[in-house]
Amino acid sequence: MVETDEQQAVNDAQTHDAKIEEIARRCGVRAERGRRFAELTSLRVGGAIDWLLVPETEEQAAGVVGALEDAGVAWRVLGAGSNVLADDREHRYVVVSTREVKGEAQFDGERVSVSAGFSLPRLCVEAARHGLSGIEGLGGIPGTVGGALWMNAGAYGHEIGEVVESVRVARGGHVVVVPGSEVKWDYRHTSFKEGELLLGCTLKLRPDDPEKIAARMEDAKRRRFATQPHGARSAGCFFKNPPGSGLSTGKMIDEMGMKGERRGGARVSPVHANFIVTEGKDARASDALALAEEIRERFRREHGIELEYEVELWGADAEFKDASGATETDETSGEVKTSDEAEADDERARAEESSEAES
Ligand code: EPU
Repeated sequence: MVETDEQQAVNDAQTHDAKIEEIARRCGVRAERGRRFAELTSLRVGGAIDWLLVPETEEQAAGVVGALEDAGVAWRVLGAGSNVLADDREHRYVVVSTREVKGEAQFDGERVSVSAGFSLPRLCVEAARHGLSGIEGLGGIPGTVGGALWMNAGAYGHEIGEVVESVRVARGGHVVVVPGSEVKWDYRHTSFKEGELLLGCTLKLRPDDPEKIAARMEDAKRRRFATQPHGARSAGCFFKNPPGSGLSTGKMIDEMGMKGERRGGARVSPVHANFIVTEGKDARASDALALAEEIRERFRREHGIELEYEVELWGADAEFKDASGATETDETSGEVKTSDEAEADDERARAEESSEAES
């Protein structure tokens, strides 16, 4: 009896794997096994990934998620992994990486069209070179364009949503253009829905003197460098600032005396208290989560405020689609940021930028 159940499970797994392999082959998309979130996210923690699919064009990406949906296979989108805390267990869904959907940024007058996997810092540098202003505050955010769109990334007076003319989204296996004006761009949140894959966008920027733009970008980077940890394993700010309050969560956690506090391999950054950093090879996602929950608990007690996560928490087994691919539930989500490649990209972007600034 037990054997029969076990045999059934093996058969189911084989059918599932064969289905995914067939979809990847049909769409011409690379399929990888044996990857871990610990290699693909900037916090460097998180468990095994069942299947990682790596499309290289917007059309391939749209096609592959359309096919997964048709087959009732659950999937999530990972960009550079710089805003995700994925739990330590084995994740039983397909991860679609947008890291290779990058191509080249296409400039045309005040507009630039760019794909989701393109490095945000690199885009900011290229826009400055073309004398285009509007995103220079975002130059230090180590993510992809797709991740920035997904969460309406912002820093130093700029939010990406303000300059988006249109977004390309995967729907029914195809690339569909959605006007930026039809999207709700809120503080670190947009009206894009779970199960929507963002493929790229066209930004409309403003002409300005390239040197002035580069100087503003440098200034934002300097401020960031002085106030936020760099070179550390983090996911940026862990919590949102309390909306509409003008309060800084980081400042308040700092005033609660929690800088440097540890849980296992996770630590409240001594530089900026809204950053949780991981340290050592034994760090676990559960350490970061335990520390985050401790902060939330104390924040609730001392300030009566319920802190909202700014990072995305990815559970290993949270079902976010039913078999028909139609229903979504909670906390699973879309676009993201960092891997080794992304970091290398961002480093390159920074190096290019500083050599640009020096020349
Ligand atoms: N502060 C402290 N101690 C700390 C952290 C901050 O006293 O540990 C003070 C700072 O000295 C400053 C004030 O708090 O006087 C505000 O700090 P900061 O300028 O760093 O701004 P923030 O509100 O903490 C927000 C965004 C950052 C973004 C910066 C700059 C959120 C949650 N955070 O931080 O975004 O880079 O403004 O625009 O909205 C992110 O999205 O991941 C992120 C880091």
